[in-house]
Amino acid sequence: MTATRTAPPPADPMLPRPFRVTRSHLDTDDTVTLSLEPLDGEPLDFAAGQFTMLHAFGIGEVPISISGDPTWPGPLTHTIRDVGSVTHALVTAQVGEVVGVRGPYGTGWATDAAAGGDVLLAAGGIGLAPLRPALWEIADRREDFGRVVLLYGARSPADVLFAHDLGRWADEHAIDVEITVDYAPPTWRGRVGPVTKLISRAGFDPPNTTALICGPEVMMTLTANALRGRGVPTDRLRLSMERNMKCGVGLCGHCQLREFFLCVDGPVLSYDRLAPLMDVWEF
Ligand SMILES: Cc1cc2nc3c(=O)[nH]c(=O)nc-3n(C[C@H](O)[C@H](O)[C@H](O)COP(=O)(O)OP(=O)(O)OC[C@H]3O[C@@H](n4cnc5c(N)ncnc54)[C@H](O)[C@@H]3O)c2cc1C
Ligand code: FES
Repeated sequence: MTATRTAPPPADPMLPRPFRVTRSHLDTDDTVTLSLEPLDGEPLDFAAGQFTMLHAFGIGEVPISISGDPTWPGPLTHTIRDVGSVTHALVTAQVGEVVGVRGPYGTGWATDAAAGGDVLLAAGGIGLAPLRPALWEIADRREDFGRVVLLYGARSPADVLFAHDLGRWADEHAIDVEITVDYAPPTWRGRVGPVTKLISRAGFDPPNTTALICGPEVMMTLTANALRGRGVPTDRLRLSMERNMKCGVGLCGHCQLREFFLCVDGPVLSYDRLAPLMDVWEF
């Protein structure tokens, strides 16, 4: 007699997996990078640009992009800015503490589609964290891309994230790294002003360029419009729309932007899909 096999019940998408904090690195005075290891030993594969729902037990759950290197099998890494109750609980989590993880969720940067041409990455503030996996992916197969430019705007020199990586991308991977800040002490010798001011100095071939943009929405709007004005095709302008999210899996409608649920259709979407939907994208 053949035994009847029952399929295992589908995993509950709302159930967080426990991960232990194995490292907590203070990047700036309000931003921390956490390294997490799964208690069940099953690593979590992800695509550059995806996010997880991070759960601080007893406090709440928030969407946070994965900021680690997808080409290297290391711990799950998130870079978190302390802005409210849940992010505060996460940035103050101690090594050994357990947090919950759901995901990974959402669309990625799809760096493969940029191969063969130039790539311009524009980051504002904590927006460098979701772009970091894309930068590592590009650095890993640098010969597949033309010119690669990173334009990065931080609030002040003390808020510049990943200084070590910025140096490596520039020195070892021929990535043009241009940094600007909003405010600077008199000792700062670098640039001051918005990210858009860096575009005219950047060397790239607009019709043959893919742009990956992440930051506050106003920064993304101005950057996308400036790049469009320079001739970057709108279907090659990709933006990460980090609106408020609750479930992360298309169930609650919290992240809805007209026909899009940004947790599943995004967060990374192309400008040509976004522009008709948002007044903010209109001239
Ligand atoms: C797909 C996605 C990826 C994200 N990746 C990161 C990341 O890598 N690192 C990181 O630090 N943050 C990231 N965020 C933002 C993060 O989710 C919010 O900062 C967090 O939800 C705030 O929760 P809180 O309870 O700490 O603060 P709250 O008390 O909920 O909010 C504090 C302040 O932050 C603002 N805020 C809340 N949610 C967002 C949001 N989604 N975007 C912008 N402002 C918000 C609120 O309006 C309020 O002013 C991401 C958001 C999304 C949707
Ligand atoms: S966050 Fe619930 S549908 Fe997107």
